[in-house]
Amino acid sequence: MIPPRLKFSTKGLQILDQRSLPDRIEYLTARNAAQTAAAIKDMALRGAPLIGCAAAFGFALELRRLRPGTSAELAAAAKRTASLLKAARPTAVALFYAADRMLSKALSYAAANPGRFGPAGTSMLLAQLDREARLVTSEDEAACLAMGKYGAELLPRNCVIMTHCNAGALATMGIGTAVGVITAAHEQGKIKHAYSCETRPYLQGARLTIWELMRGGVPSELITDNMAAHIIKTCGVNAIVVGADRIAANGDTANKIGTYGLAVIAKHHKVPFYVAAPTPTIDLAAHSGDAIVIEERSIKEVTYVKGACIAPKGVKVRHPAFDVTPAGLITALITERGVIAPVTRAAIKKHLA
Ligand code: MRU
Repeated sequence: MIPPRLKFSTKGLQILDQRSLPDRIEYLTARNAAQTAAAIKDMALRGAPLIGCAAAFGFALELRRLRPGTSAELAAAAKRTASLLKAARPTAVALFYAADRMLSKALSYAAANPGRFGPAGTSMLLAQLDREARLVTSEDEAACLAMGKYGAELLPRNCVIMTHCNAGALATMGIGTAVGVITAAHEQGKIKHAYSCETRPYLQGARLTIWELMRGGVPSELITDNMAAHIIKTCGVNAIVVGADRIAANGDTANKIGTYGLAVIAKHHKVPFYVAAPTPTIDLAAHSGDAIVIEERSIKEVTYVKGACIAPKGVKVRHPAFDVTPAGLITALITERGVIAPVTRAAIKKHLA
């Protein structure tokens, strides 16, 4: 079992600090939106759906702290809080989805209760926000189970599968998206072997995914990212499944840096390339992948590994944390509603209708 990623109460949000994994299981507590945003920015928690769930809880905690007494105070506080949370990281749309959903819950309450609330009204508001945040979380859990089911159906018996980054339980409140597909297929006896790419520079594959696969009893091996082409060519890989941070209206998909390269290799070797992501990951406002903002993270995450500098002092470094895989390289999108294949603008629109 993977330890709970988030534990919410009206006093605070306990966050499994993923920076300590797999060595230590440690929690930190966020008591307001600023602390939640800092935990997201600093990678104490990560993975698109989990970031969204944390933001929803952070929003509820912040409003509890501020206890707005009037509709005007509520509207102002809710807008400020949503903006603060959304500034934490730019690429995963789940963060924007969750913050906007909490904002609209708060604004509807303000609209329905103009003027002063009184203590009972404020309590009712806070209870509604807690409930909405828990709903974001339970929907994520259910979506993971459904994706696991649909994804496992796509995989052949004796499947040799590869994944990149961590789209597992640690990235969600459920069984994971891509890793959820692998574990669901494993439960059906379909997985012969799973490969986890280490995912430089932040090593989500080496620290988190392989740990999850081992704990789940999935026969698996860790490889470095530059081994992927060789392993795909020589080890009978017959499916690749990854998660997503944002999917544009035409199916172009932003995911962890290295995903695009893997999709190109998959195409060359005629290996199906699947993306598993819940429907809130689809951003219809992004016409294509060009509209997706790619986060640039600290160069220290490239030049340091576990506190040791691995590059010359003064070196110039780039660190785009995500890349965009063109829809044409994706065999199918797996969502909680089913499978989209081929991945086209029209098919996505129909899927969401
Ligand atoms: O920078 P991270 O660790 O938040 O990046 C995570 C990924 O890229 C995942 O593949 C993606 O969020 C999907 S998680 C279900």
